[in-house]
Amino acid sequence: MNRWWLALALPALIGARFEPEPPVANWPAGAGAAIAQQKCGICHGPELIQRQRLTATQWTKEVDKMVGWGAPLEPEERAVLATYLARHFGPDRPIAPPPRLRFTEN
Ligand code: HEC
Repeated sequence: MNRWWLALALPALIGARFEPEPPVANWPAGAGAAIAQQKCGICHGPELIQRQRLTATQWTKEVDKMVGWGAPLEPEERAVLATYLARHFGPDRPIAPPPRLRFTEN
């Protein structure tokens, strides 16, 4: 059987696997940032998450709740993300500023 097309397809397939991760906008650097951006960002923006100040236990429950609502996390991603969120958005962190609103006159 002629498989010449594999020579074309394989580099493309392997190359795709090693593509750099897309930049993680609006998330502090760290393991979990890409998960938060790619998987939590499916349904809502980062602000809703980053305004919270939760303990590690509460973040674990929150992540599990969102998985129950459809967030497509791998089992091993849950703990990584909960640890990341607790580190950056725990009760010891300063209160996040409220979103800025701009009022315009008509
Ligand atoms: C399938 C859609 C979906 C995905 C994916 C999702 N969420 Fe949510 N999330 C919601 C909805 C719906 C609400 C509540 C409605 C609202 O206020 O927008 C919400 C609200 C929240 C809240 C506010 C508090 C609360 O419980 O209502 C937090 C925090 C949150 N999500 C965190 C996350 C995190 C962390 C992830 C990634 C693991 C995530 N969400 C992924 C749908 C989703």
